[in-house]
Amino acid sequence: MGKRLDGRVVIITGGARGMGAEEAELFRSEGAQVLIADVDEDGGRRVADRLGEGVAFQRLDVGDPAGWEAVVQTALDRFGKLDALVNNAGVYRRASLQETTPEIYEHHHRVNQLGVFLGLQAAMGPMRDGGGGAIVNVSSISGIRAFPDQAAYAMTKWAVRGLTKNAAVDLAPWGIRVNSLHPGFTDTEMIQENTPELNQAAIDGAPLRRAGQVGELARAALYLVSDESSFMTGSELVCDGGLTL
Ligand SMILES: NC(=O)c1ccc[n+]([C@@H]2O[C@H](COP(=O)([O-])OP(=O)(O)OC[C@H]3O[C@@H](n4cnc5c(N)ncnc54)[C@H](O)[C@@H]3O)[C@@H](O)[C@H]2O)c1
Repeated sequence: MGKRLDGRVVIITGGARGMGAEEAELFRSEGAQVLIADVDEDGGRRVADRLGEGVAFQRLDVGDPAGWEAVVQTALDRFGKLDALVNNAGVYRRASLQETTPEIYEHHHRVNQLGVFLGLQAAMGPMRDGGGGAIVNVSSISGIRAFPDQAAYAMTKWAVRGLTKNAAVDLAPWGIRVNSLHPGFTDTEMIQENTPELNQAAIDGAPLRRAGQVGELARAALYLVSDESSFMTGSELVCDGGLTL
């Protein structure tokens, strides 16, 4: 039996660490060629060097339209086509509603929301030309239900959930599936933004009583990128240990 992503070319944003780096490794092991795109040049290069042949890195600020064009062009030049995109890059800062300044709002918007939109726009043409594709937009359980002191972050994650459905409708005629992935509380550097008490509360609140591991989220992303989810588009894959129940 062939591997699940044999011959596929995938761009993963935010692949310099955390879930994105894990996805790069898993997808490569399933036969994909991977282009990691991240603002973190040192981290991104380290991951690409460690994974070796078939994995490349290019610096990208996902809020920059010209940067997106360049990244997609690199995927085409280097690997010949584009089959999938995981819009995984994200930022998270806790702030009460009152403390949420326009700068905090705009920073979340630019990376988590505009970044996903620009990625869709940049990737869809080459995917259509190649006969179709799969796009995974990483939202969050914060795009499913409310948590305290997350207004700016949550707005972007709800927006990503909504955009996914509109894009799924628009891109279905092009053979492109678009789904959102909703990680629960997952053990990465991102959760260091929370206090230890908050992190414990997230563990206690999940019926499975633990944090998710990056491998568990990477396998969920793999499912949405692979043909195993061929009848899914515009849907929401929640991977959260039951925290939203
Ligand atoms: N960790 C969790 O508990 C959790 C829960 C729900 C959703 N998520 C989402 O999962 C995704 C991955 O999160 P993670 O936990 O691996 O976080 P992380 O902080 O470990 O990794 C995020 C990556 O995004 C990159 N990035 C940030 N701004 C960027 C930009 N402007 N352009 C390109 N890259 C940029 C960072 O350099 C980093 O490599 C994010 O979208 C996050 O919002 C995480």
